[in-house]
Formats: sequence, structure tokens, C-alpha cells
Amino acid sequence: MHDEDRIIVRHGGPLRGEVVIPGAKNAVLKLMAATLLADGEYVLRNVPAIADVGIMSDLLMSIGVTSTWEGPGRLRMVNAGQLRPVAPYELVERIRASINVLGPLLGRCGHVELSLPGGDDFGSRPIDMHLKGLEAMGATFELRHGVVEATAERLHGAEITLEFPSVGATENILTAAVFAKGTTVIDNAAREPEIADLCQFLVGMGAQFEGIGSSTLVIHGVERHELHSTDHAVVADRIQAATYLAATAVSGGEVVLRGARADHMEMLLRRFRDMGLTITSIGDGTNPGDGLAVWAQGRLHSIDVATLPYPGIATDYKPLVVTMLTVADGVGIVTENLYPGRFRYVEELQRLGADIRADGHHAVVRGVPRLSGAPVRAPDIRAGAALVVAGLAAEGETSVAGVHHVDRGYDDLVGRLAALGADIERASAG
Ligand code: UD1
Repeated sequence: MHDEDRIIVRHGGPLRGEVVIPGAKNAVLKLMAATLLADGEYVLRNVPAIADVGIMSDLLMSIGVTSTWEGPGRLRMVNAGQLRPVAPYELVERIRASINVLGPLLGRCGHVELSLPGGDDFGSRPIDMHLKGLEAMGATFELRHGVVEATAERLHGAEITLEFPSVGATENILTAAVFAKGTTVIDNAAREPEIADLCQFLVGMGAQFEGIGSSTLVIHGVERHELHSTDHAVVADRIQAATYLAATAVSGGEVVLRGARADHMEMLLRRFRDMGLTITSIGDGTNPGDGLAVWAQGRLHSIDVATLPYPGIATDYKPLVVTMLTVADGVGIVTENLYPGRFRYVEELQRLGADIRADGHHAVVRGVPRLSGAPVRAPDIRAGAALVVAGLAAEGETSVAGVHHVDRGYDDLVGRLAALGADIERASAG
């Protein structure tokens, strides 16, 4: 009957054991795009085995950079210097991060043809701030038949103040600035840990940055010959880490998240503690073996949460938090400040018996003692993972369709949860 994979999950006992947190999707895709800047052979380590890495590889291959898996988590990329700065619609429409080739290609080639990006289908996601920032550096843009044609003889440094700390705009401007003549200052820059990871990668390539991790980023332009390829380990994925925290929260148990970075999740960890979880750091997150330990016992307490740019609670955590609130004691209000309309998964949670009222930017979640399993469909990556977590909290069987969304951002979610003792399996199509 069903010609697509599903994740089948049932409520079981507490989770126990260790899970290794893979590298971040929202970092690795940007690092891959940044290899367009300099010729040579790159090695990326801690690369998650997710579908979006494959899509980005295809896009970069069509531009002229090859990617090969050399072993688990190890991706070798080669930029042989023959680039065709065209990002075709068939590839661009598949991931939002394809927009990240704009900055590097403009800096490197002085010309780009980029179809307008797609990706997760929530709210409208304009790129006006990307274009305005690059324009201040001397680029010109023409939009023709859905294709942005960007041109710049040689970009120059500029002082750019973003109206809003957009992740993508910050990344495109900072990568373009690497080869700009003079110094670029980005004020009100986004400061997500994945952006700091991209800056560190570029520093490893010979770029010159000040203020990494802060909201004022300073980039001193370098000459072509000063930039080279490098070897880099991708920062741990705080969203995948939060997913295993949420899974433990609704199942109970004791789990160690190896590689998770407490310092990249401070606000979320504080709120999870308010909900009743005991979370401790192991080391400072920079050595192998470091991570987080979580202990969950008894019913969660409700809290109110609002999403904000980093270091606030990320919008990508929200479906997980809403799911935790569906079985918590009390009423919680969740406010979305980044994307209107990013509550589509609420209807799916309601199918599982959740008591949620969503209206515009707000959702009011009244906790129930237990959800009840049902067939549901993942509308996007994070909501898909949240539905799997909800299935762990639901009596009976929950079958999650739309698994291809989950595969875009999760490296073996099912295998990792099963290894912790969850009652979960993947049912393959056909
Ligand atoms: C990135 C993440 C995504 C996360 C988001 C916010 C990737 C691949 N995706 O997306 O998972 O949810 O950050 O943390 O890293 N905006 C404009 N004009 C612009 C740019 C953005 O109006 O030029 C608006 C967007 O519509 C949105 C908000 O600003 O409402 C945030 O966007 P941004 O921070 O740019 O997110 P992305 O880089 O698209």
C-alpha cells in the first residue's frame, strides 16, 4: 500500500546508554560551499551521513568541486580550479543552504547565476539581506526568470549593519568578504556556533577574521594566493543533541551524549532543567569523550518558551520543546519569533492526542499524561524528529511517514534511538 519508508515507534521503557552526536548539518553544508573559494584537497571530519550532504555534493559537483566519502564521517573534497559558477534550479530547489554558494562564487569568480533557493517549505524565506550586504560590497544583481545573476569585478570591503541577525546573510557576506579589497565589518551578525565553525574553517584556509562568535565580525580581505585548502572537524550538531535530550525527557532514563557541546546549548539546557531534567557537562566539549549527561525521572514540568536568534532558543528546537510540553504537567506557551507559520506539525501532534492551540506566532500547550499512537506525516526535518519523539511518549504504535525529511538532517536517528533501548524501527517501502 505505502510506497515510502516509515518510522514505526512505540512507547517503551527508559532510555539508557551513550549516543555519539554527529557533526551539524547547518555547519557542514556551509563548509562544503566555502571550498569553492580556494583550489586544493580538503578533508572534512565528523561529517553527518545525511541526505543534504549528498545534495550539496551534487550541486558542488555541477559547479566543479568533487566530494568522496573516505570512511565514516570523512569527506574528501577537491577543488581543481575549473569552476562553472551556475547553480541550477533542479539542485537549488532541494536545499535552502544552496544559497551559500553565492558568497564564495561571487568572491572567487566575480559572476554567479543562482536559481532562487528552496529547502524546508515553511513561511517565506527571502534573501533581501544577502543581496543588500553584497551590493554594499560592489556586487550588482539582476533577477531574470527566477535566476539571480550576480556580478562584481572585485568586491570591496564595506560596513554592513544587518537589520536582523540572519544566519544565511551573515554567511554569504563573510565568505564573499574573504577576497574583498580591504576590510568588511558586519554589525548585528548572526552568532550561531555553526557560523563560528565556518569562520574557523576559513581561518584554517588563510582568511583573516576578528570577532569570531560575536555580533561584530571583521574580515580583512586577502589575495587569491594567500588562501589554501584545509582539514577540519565539523562542530557537533546541537539540534541532533537536543533531539536525544528530548527523547530521554519523554521516555525517562539516563543517557550520555558524546561530543555534544553544552556551551552551544546553554539557554536550552537551562530551560530543560526548568522542566525537570538533570543535565551535567562532561569536560568542556572540546576533547573526544566530552559531552553531556542527562537524567530524566518523573513527569516534566511545563514552561513558557520564545524562539530567538542565538544565543536564544533556536527555532529549530521548537518542535521538540512543543512535543515535550504535550506530556508535561501544566500549560506552556511557545512563541515563534522567526518564522510565521512554523507550527504545521501541530495538527500531527493533535492526531496523537496532544492538546495544543496554535494561532499565528503562539502555541498554547496543555500537557496530557500520555499521547496515543497514530499514523502521522513529517512536514519538515525538525518536526519529523519531534514526531518520532512524540511516538516514544505515545501508547501503542506511531507510524511516521515523510521520513525523507528526517533523512535530510538526521544521521541514523532510528539506529541511534534503538541502541539506547527505544522500541523503534524503520519500515522500508515495498
Ligand atoms: C538557518 C538554518 C535554519 C534555521 C535558521 C534560523 C541553515 C541551512 N538553516 O536558516 O535551520 O531555522 O537559520 O536559525 O543553516 N530573512 C529575511 N531576509 C533575508 C534573510 C532572512 O527576511 O535576506 C528572514 C527569514 O525569512 C526568517 C529570518 O530572517 O524569518 C531568519 O532567517 P535566517 O537567519 O537567514 O535563516 P536561514 O539562514 O535561512
